[in-house]
This record gives sequence, C-alpha cells and structure tokens, in this order.
Amino acid sequence: MKDGVIVALEGVWKVYRMGRRRRIEVQALRGVDLEVARGEFLAVMGPSGSGKSTLLHLMGCLDRPTEGRVLFEGEDIARLRPAALARIRNRKVGFVFQSFNLSPNLSALENVELPMVFAGVPRRERLRRARELLSRVGLSERERHLPSELSGGEQQRVAIARALANSPELLLADEPTGNLDSETGKGILSLISEANREGVAVVVVTHDPEVAACAGRHLRIRDGRIVEVTDV
Ligand SMILES: Nc1ncnc2c1ncn2[C@@H]1O[C@H](COP(=O)(O)OP(=O)(O)O)[C@@H](O)[C@H]1O
Ligand SMILES: [Mg+2]
Repeated sequence: MKDGVIVALEGVWKVYRMGRRRRIEVQALRGVDLEVARGEFLAVMGPSGSGKSTLLHLMGCLDRPTEGRVLFEGEDIARLRPAALARIRNRKVGFVFQSFNLSPNLSALENVELPMVFAGVPRRERLRRARELLSRVGLSERERHLPSELSGGEQQRVAIARALANSPELLLADEPTGNLDSETGKGILSLISEANREGVAVVVVTHDPEVAACAGRHLRIRDGRIVEVTDV
C-alpha cells in the first residue's frame, strides 16, 4: 500500500439491478480509478445522476463494488468480515448527508454520542467529547434539543459533530450545504475546512463553487466516469 493513500478505487463498477426480475441495469459507476490521499480535500462535481453519491458510499464502505476493488488503508473491503467493515465505518469514516440524517428521537447531545456508544467509549468520556464537539460547532446551548427543534443549519452542525465523534481519518460529505441558505452553508463549510486543516481527509460532493474553492483537488464525473481531475 502507498502510505499516503487512505482509500483507493481500482477499476470500480457499480451496477444496480432494478425491476421485478432485476433485469433493468443501471450502471452508476463505469470503471473508476481514484486515490484519495490522507489529509487532502477533494471536491466531487457532476450532474445529477452521474454517480457521485454512489462513489461516496463506496469510499465509505457503505456499499461494495460490482466489479473492481475498493482498498481502504490498503485492505480490499470485499475481503473484510462484516465486523471489520463496521469498524471502519464507525471509527475511520465520518458521513455528512444533504438531509442531515440525524436520529429523530435522540437529542443533539445523544446524536453526537451515538457513534461513541457503538465504539464502546465509556459514558463519562463520551459525554465530555460530545459536549466538546457541540461547543466547537456552536451548539452548547442546544444539547437537549431534538432534531425537529433545530434549524437546518443547526441540524447539519450536529451532523458534523457526530461525524467527527470518533476522530475519523476520512470525512465524506454529500452535498452538505445543498439544503441550506448560503450564509448558513458558509458556516458548515468552515467547520469542514477546519476538520481538514486538522488533518482529516475530506471528500465533498458539491454544486457550490464556494465549497469547491476550498478543495485542493477537483474531480468531475459524468455518466459514471471520471472525466476530469484538476489540482487547484
Ligand atoms: N439504490 C439504487 N438502486 C438503483 N439505482 C440507483 C440506486 N442508487 C443510485 N441509483 C442510480 O444510479 C445512478 C447514479 O446515482 P447517484 O450515485 O445517486 O448519482 P448522483 O449522486 O450523482 O446524483 C442514477 O442513475 C441513479 O438513479
Ligand atoms: Mg447524490
């Protein structure tokens, strides 16, 4: 493995099968080769339906390729047992989605604690870290609020705090500012950039030029293929 690579895709295809007899085929990714370096900030752009979310899911070990290999820290994820995969998803990767995806019945604090519950972090340490993260995203005053009692921007800040709970190596964000007004989006972007400055590799899917401007590398995808990679 190259030491500097956190996740690599080699000749990756993702084909979804649909319909009653699964005879309808959607080729979401068609032969993708890509390496994400530790600590880098990569922006993924492309039209709707081009395969951006699929790419992110594969990088985060939420899904497996139909063909080709995904190597996370050099390990072929197809060869890992479910427990090892779950461990990567829980400890090494943080996810932020456009729709926030918080647990609706848990408070802001409990949402941030949840990944640490799965990781077996003792309660006192968990609480300390969750409070520290909520304070970092400016939500100390909201720890008892349910997601439904928070604005969109606040929910996304909780989602970022949750994504960082177990100090991941890789932060994956799928249109994280897509549902937010531009001012609120800027706050989210600066939190993501801050995580990157502290050494977390970031891959963000975005249509927003301001988000892309923070990245060190741009990747353009179309019809399931990478059509352009630019260093900026
Ligand atoms: N779970 C799924 N089942 C079937 N088709 C899917 C699924 N997820 C995505 N697709 C299809 O795969 C293609 C790529 O989707 P996606 O990765 O979500 O693109 P993007 O995020 O760029 O909009 C689209 O044609 C989409 O309809
Ligand atoms: Mg998408």
